[in-house]
Amino acid sequence: MEIKVNLATKLKEKPTDESKLAFGELFTDHMLLIDYDTNRGWHNARIEAYGYLRLDPAAACLHYGQEIFEGLKAYSGKDGGIYLFRAVDNFKRLNHSARRVCMPELDVDLAMEALKKLILVDREWIPKSRGTSLYIRPTMIATEAFLSVHPASNYLFYIIIGPVGSYYREGLNPVKIYVEDKYVRAAAGGTGDTKTAGNYANSLLAAEEAKKKGFTQVLWLDGCEKRWVEEVGTMNMFFVIDDEIITAPLTGSILGGITRDSVIRIVRHWGLNMKERLVSIDEVVAAATSGRLKEAFGTGTAAVISPVGHITYKDKDYVIAGGKMGELSQKLYDEIVAIQYAEKPDPYGWREKIG
Ligand code: COI
Repeated sequence: MEIKVNLATKLKEKPTDESKLAFGELFTDHMLLIDYDTNRGWHNARIEAYGYLRLDPAAACLHYGQEIFEGLKAYSGKDGGIYLFRAVDNFKRLNHSARRVCMPELDVDLAMEALKKLILVDREWIPKSRGTSLYIRPTMIATEAFLSVHPASNYLFYIIIGPVGSYYREGLNPVKIYVEDKYVRAAAGGTGDTKTAGNYANSLLAAEEAKKKGFTQVLWLDGCEKRWVEEVGTMNMFFVIDDEIITAPLTGSILGGITRDSVIRIVRHWGLNMKERLVSIDEVVAAATSGRLKEAFGTGTAAVISPVGHITYKDKDYVIAGGKMGELSQKLYDEIVAIQYAEKPDPYGWREKIG
């Protein structure tokens, strides 16, 4: 399919101080859009000036939540090249989300071509310093106007991009996590393993309550027994207990994070003891109490590797790794970031140079 390019006539001012970049507040001059209807399939791919969408107030995405998205990044490499990291996996996951909420799948090759074209149009926006990147937000919404509950026939896929710094205000400093034992994020058979908007809306109240108590995020437990550790909503969680590195298995209620998968493959490549297994919050706090919990960290595209320095469960605070970034967390951060910024060879084939 041809991707038409209609360049913006007026360009925005680009940020001058990369050290001040926040997360998800700035967007570039252009966006990519592709329409869908059941008769024509995906059509009318175009890059045009970033701007408002025109939506019917009855559009299905506004009422019944047929919305899915992805998050990935492009990096300015050490050699001045532009690099994507595992982007194909993001589009495969978008299609996984699409199937779950009855939205149309997108051809991964088309999505990749469109993304690369958009990034190259706005390449001057890619920040250069370590720790900054171009965040990419592919999004799909149901645009058909109706109010009965059924899958829509019309959709819009779009990609917006923008320069970002670190996701958490803490940067690489350890975050404080509140173990949520009142609200539930997802249950087996639900949509917990998809990136659909409702999962995030559902997480807001717990996160706000935790924030008021001084926490960065909440750690979700399983929706049935409130016993098994799941994820942090913006990150998958890893614990190092003795020499075992543990993360929750993909049982359907947590997101299959791409950084999660990268960490698993890297630590296995390093010959470390990596287990995807159920881990209960009781096991985590018992290990923290006895000094066997060496490290805890979260992984995510936006967060990269985020060390967890404190966990609070049922009003008791557990300090992890002396409240500092642990050795493995640091080593993993250095390894992943070095691959992403093309500072070292990529033995996994994750990096793609696009310009
Ligand atoms: C990401 O890590 O890119 C995400 O999509 C998480 C988020 C900021 C909602």
